[in-house]
Amino acid sequence: MLHTRICDLLGIEHPIISAPMAGTSTAELAAAVSNAGGFGMIGSRAQPDPEWLREQIHTARELTDRPFGVGFISSAPRMERAVEVAIEEKVAAISHSFADVTPYVSAAQAAGIKVLAQVQTVALAESAALAGVDVITAQGTEAGGHTGHNGTLPLVAAVIDIAGGIPVLASGGIGDGRGLAAVLMLGAEGAWIGTRFVASLEWGGPDWVRQKVTEASIDDTLLTRVYDLAGAAPFPPEIGHRVLRNDFTDTWHGRDQEIIARRQELQDQIDAAALAGDHRIASVNAGGATGLIDRVEPAGDIVRRIVAETEAILRSRPGQVLGGKD
Ligand SMILES: Cc1cc2nc3c(=O)[nH]c(=O)nc-3n(C[C@H](O)[C@H](O)[C@H](O)COP(=O)(O)O)c2cc1C
Repeated sequence: MLHTRICDLLGIEHPIISAPMAGTSTAELAAAVSNAGGFGMIGSRAQPDPEWLREQIHTARELTDRPFGVGFISSAPRMERAVEVAIEEKVAAISHSFADVTPYVSAAQAAGIKVLAQVQTVALAESAALAGVDVITAQGTEAGGHTGHNGTLPLVAAVIDIAGGIPVLASGGIGDGRGLAAVLMLGAEGAWIGTRFVASLEWGGPDWVRQKVTEASIDDTLLTRVYDLAGAAPFPPEIGHRVLRNDFTDTWHGRDQEIIARRQELQDQIDAAALAGDHRIASVNAGGATGLIDRVEPAGDIVRRIVAETEAILRSRPGQVLGGKD
């Protein structure tokens, strides 16, 4: 049986955390992951909506009696009230990404809530460790959605080196048991997974996005700022956005000043395309793991399969590579 320190810390069976995905990892997905023995995260909306979040937390509580958490895009303006709601509701854990976590640690911990910081650099990991977080998630550039520029493999190892014993999760590019086994061997305590759960029945976004994630290959993703520039999205400039390449990214990637000059017109196009399900223009957040996904499944099945694959690999592979018979 797989068991790591994160299982004890969060009160879960399997070291798999479903990533907070703004507005689309809703109560249904979080509860399904938690019911399967992982740790489900509700993603607070990018434009914070405290009452929506409270309803999501209540719905998750109706769907599971197991622990789950809430994650924030902490660089977004006016999110303080939504964070207060998560604390008032005493969710098991709160994660912060894309901003310094320091201001958020003490109030949550005083309420008995674990604080997770998702970081993209060693410098951010150092400040999260200093701030006293309970868990650091090292997010590699392979991740779907907003992310940094360091690869998961070296970033996880480097963050473990400076974490001073704080448990580290690996995020970015993990789509099956091979990925989870690999990061456990690096010393991570578990995997924080987004893209694989986009292709789940319980994910709260549109069907056409789910479908695209099952069809795309690893070669189809791009780290870009085209959508963030058009939408004036609240992310620091060093944070990119990993999406599926399409006509829009082929046309506009790298033309930052022109995008800014034509912001309204482009954002109108993007909004219309998202409503119409036009994947040639609308954004699809997806990481490299998209190339490992060929079907939409219940989230619980995804958790159970990744665990079973990881256990099988950890049983057979060490013997093979150490020269023994497996
Ligand atoms: C559709 C989607 C939306 C995301 N939204 C958020 C978010 O709101 N907050 C956040 O911290 N991370 C967000 N992320 C990034 C995830 O937290 C995580 O780093 C990433 O999914 C891990 O890599 P993977 O997609 O390869 O599994 C999102 C990722 C995806 C795919």
